[in-house]
Amino acid sequence: MVSLMFFGSSSYLCSSPSKNTKASLDFERKKVGPCTKLVRNVNLEKLKNNYLFPEITRRELEHVEKHPNVRLISLGTGDTTEPIPEQITSQMSNFAHALSTVEGYRGYGLEQGDKTLRQAIANTFYGNLCVKSSEVFVSDGAQSDISRLQLLLGSGVTIAVQDPTFPAYVDSSVIMGQTGRFHEATKTYQNVVYMPCGPQNSFFPDLAMTPRTDVIFFCSPNNPTGYVASRKQLHQLVEFAKTNGSIIIFDSAYAAFIEDGSPRSIYEIPGAREVAIEVSSFSKFAGFTGVRLGWTIIPDELLYSNGFPILNDFHRIVTTSFNGASNIAQAGGLACLSSAGLKEIRSVINYYKENRKILMETLVSLGLTVYGGVNAPYLWVHFRGSKSWDVFAEVLENTHIITVPGSGFGPGGEEYLRISGFGRRDDIIEASKRLQRFFNKRTKHFIFLSSASNNN
Ligand SMILES: Cc1ncc(COP(=O)(O)O)c(C=O)c1O
Repeated sequence: MVSLMFFGSSSYLCSSPSKNTKASLDFERKKVGPCTKLVRNVNLEKLKNNYLFPEITRRELEHVEKHPNVRLISLGTGDTTEPIPEQITSQMSNFAHALSTVEGYRGYGLEQGDKTLRQAIANTFYGNLCVKSSEVFVSDGAQSDISRLQLLLGSGVTIAVQDPTFPAYVDSSVIMGQTGRFHEATKTYQNVVYMPCGPQNSFFPDLAMTPRTDVIFFCSPNNPTGYVASRKQLHQLVEFAKTNGSIIIFDSAYAAFIEDGSPRSIYEIPGAREVAIEVSSFSKFAGFTGVRLGWTIIPDELLYSNGFPILNDFHRIVTTSFNGASNIAQAGGLACLSSAGLKEIRSVINYYKENRKILMETLVSLGLTVYGGVNAPYLWVHFRGSKSWDVFAEVLENTHIITVPGSGFGPGGEEYLRISGFGRRDDIIEASKRLQRFFNKRTKHFIFLSSASNNN
């Protein structure tokens, strides 16, 4: 009753409408109720769209409402689907149960993460690369650490990103105030260097044409293109950073999918310890997307211009803004890195690789141009001349399959769809059949239309 009266009050839109974007206007118009005097963070005002993946989820829900009886298949947000091996969950459940005992109870742990787990991460992923456990920061996932790294960098730095790329780098940069406004015409933010990565340059940026920035976000294997940078290319990247006095934030969240011997870590490149931070995750490696566990490496040798170690500042950020990853998740992480755990995880990764292969064969057999999909779980499909949100909507409407429109990853993603190999096998097989039916029909339709227009 009280809330009804509250919402029924006369204040519908209390501030003058923002001039920035239609999206923010639409959102404000829906707001009902009295306003506070708090002025909206100008950086949040700059953000162009909803974050990509929630926007896709919104469209997914809309579609389900419209077609309540269809079997929707998601090859979209890149979430894992396969059960976590029992070997790993039993360690987590033992740990959780022990929390109910006096002997097994644990409260806050070290903010930087459990020492044994840090050592296991250093040994497993960086065996002979001289990464010390003191340089490992265990986190609740790579995405949170990307934002914590932005907190470390502050608003005064300039950044470069691959285009297309995982949206969290640019969005967190906008939120931090590192960018200017969004330009509708170019679909880019001011003050961000977008490094085009497409078939024209084998998905590796032309560094000779890239202006200097303080920070370079680099994701390999890349989400969304599925491309992995070769050793030679990463040498060039490290040299480029050294020459410019820049730092690289290297995201290796998909390293476990690399098959061709390309580097799984930036620290495989000599000199990288002086210029690179590495962010990584248990999410895609061990199906921990819901459990939440990741890590960041800050080498001792990585220094600011005044010689102060960046590691010290990251430690300060972590102790201030994060009290450490869940100890249950960390127990799971440790179980993943046992030899039995690693073996089990490998078989789950192979399952997704097989999915990816089935999808690749289907799409290629349909005559579509498909990139990626060898060293990563993602296929990057080109629809020349089409808008990616239109293709996304067309595929969804006709096949009830969720994909991701490439433009959500930056202007360089226009004309592409990202299709994920994460999924249950029966969904992958069903999706392949639906895609086959749809694209066969679509191709015939286009041939018919073009021959009709040629006849005119
Ligand atoms: C490149 C990349 N980095 C980081 C993440 C987020 O990882 P986490 O689940 O550890 O936050 C993702 C998730 O899709 C990703 O694709």
